[in-house]
Amino acid sequence: MIGKMNHVAIVVPDLAAASRIYEQTLGARVSLPKDMPEHGVTTVFVELPNIKVELLHPLGDGSPVQNFLERNPSGGVHHVCYEVEDIIKERERLLAQGARVLGSGEPQIGAHGKPVLFLHPKDFCGTLIELEQV
Ligand code: CO
Repeated sequence: MIGKMNHVAIVVPDLAAASRIYEQTLGARVSLPKDMPEHGVTTVFVELPNIKVELLHPLGDGSPVQNFLERNPSGGVHHVCYEVEDIIKERERLLAQGARVLGSGEPQIGAHGKPVLFLHPKDFCGTLIELEQV
């Protein structure tokens, strides 16, 4: 069972321009860019009262968001993240229902230092879903 939505991640072609749009045009609180080499992305966090928006830009070779940006040159919504209490229990429940978990199937440590898994978009209405254990 999923809980709160934790964040929406948007891949952008220009982090500085995207930060300006969120900070100046939309009037949100925006962090400084942070390189996450272990995830192949540079991130900017937009802190809203009820949720975060993560602006992602490829970092280094083989970034997991590089292909997405090539297919969506003006950027776009990349994934949504839902919180779960027990990620292994959720994985087993989802696998038993025929859902596909991406990668090795083992939780990785995500951008917030917590275990995460990604679910196949074709099983979930065309949306890449990240589960994060909180
Ligand atoms: Co995420």
